[in-house]
Amino acid sequence: MNSAGPLSHRRRWSQGVVQQVSPAEVTDLGPGYLEPGLLPVDLLAKAYREALSEFGSAALAYGDDQGALPFRAAAARRAGCTEAQVLVTAGTSHALYLIATMFASKEDVVLVERYAYDLGRKILTDRGLRTRAVAMDADGMDPEALHDAIVAERGRVAFVYLNPTFHNPTGIVVPEARRRALLEVAARHGVLVVEDDAYADLTLDGVVPPSMAELAGYEGVIRLRTFSKTIAPGLRLGFLIADPRTVKRLVHHGLFASGGSANHVTSLAVATLLESGDYDRHLAWLRAQLKARRDALVGNLTGPFEFDVPAGGYFLWLRFAEEARVPAEVTVAAGARFGDGPGSAVRLAYSLNSPDRLAAAGRALAGSWIPSLERT
Ligand SMILES: Cc1ncc(COP(=O)(O)O)c(C=O)c1O
Repeated sequence: MNSAGPLSHRRRWSQGVVQQVSPAEVTDLGPGYLEPGLLPVDLLAKAYREALSEFGSAALAYGDDQGALPFRAAAARRAGCTEAQVLVTAGTSHALYLIATMFASKEDVVLVERYAYDLGRKILTDRGLRTRAVAMDADGMDPEALHDAIVAERGRVAFVYLNPTFHNPTGIVVPEARRRALLEVAARHGVLVVEDDAYADLTLDGVVPPSMAELAGYEGVIRLRTFSKTIAPGLRLGFLIADPRTVKRLVHHGLFASGGSANHVTSLAVATLLESGDYDRHLAWLRAQLKARRDALVGNLTGPFEFDVPAGGYFLWLRFAEEARVPAEVTVAAGARFGDGPGSAVRLAYSLNSPDRLAAAGRALAGSWIPSLERT
């Protein structure tokens, strides 16, 4: 299923083409990206060819505002909803921006987990919204703290933004009972929930609970999906699922009236993958790749720190009390980027490097804590 990989292509992985390039000698555990060799170049080339041959010039027109029906039908079938509930977006970032524009006014508050996807928060604050962190524990956001925050903000809460499955940055999965408790609090106060479900297809062990949106019957919850983490971020393709009224409101935004569907031709290409079973085969392959990477990292991380082995997604959250010294050959994402909490933490992404490099990075990180312990 894998291709030769973009490193073998003529105009390859370089500054000015891609968002970030790490020096070859550094093992970068910072960004939540896929390793270049995991990006399915040949699969996408085939999918675009098929879409262009099947739809011809219609693939190159402005797409239906809400998104091309073949894509929406395939996405809806997988999610157990109707096409009317699906809106194609240019990924989760775009969807979050759209919701922050259509369902919030300047100075409104968005409630987020104590640790939350930092760039998602940036989209909200760049739009003039305030974010307020709500306490969380190993099972996710605390429902009582959510209640207290809603009451404290007295009608200024536009929505709650949650990432309950393979959470960025902590990797946790919110259990079903906690999901229901959070939904109950939000519904009692009439507060919209925005569920960022970027990693839910990437389970490495076992099964995940139903999405919060499914538990709520897609009422009062907007669920955000993306192919950035499961196929390739360069597609800029995702979709949101909500009740049909909410979708209708969002689709009236000038962005769709003016430009039609986000990434129309890409959505038709991805629709062929969803329909043919290629997406599911690709997911099975990708999960195996990620599992090998997670296990290589976890198997080599021993030291005076704590972590829970993530059951899916891209991230491992390493907590420690001692002052850490990260070795020069490894870079990590500082936990403080995502929020404040007791103790210190770093986020390690196991998506961007090979199992061998991750094993070596794990050993280097494990070794790096020893000097600081010896000093005490
Ligand atoms: C939780 C979460 N949401 C959204 C995104 C971005 O998604 P997209 O590429 O679809 O905009 C990321 C990427 O890091 C993420 O971790």
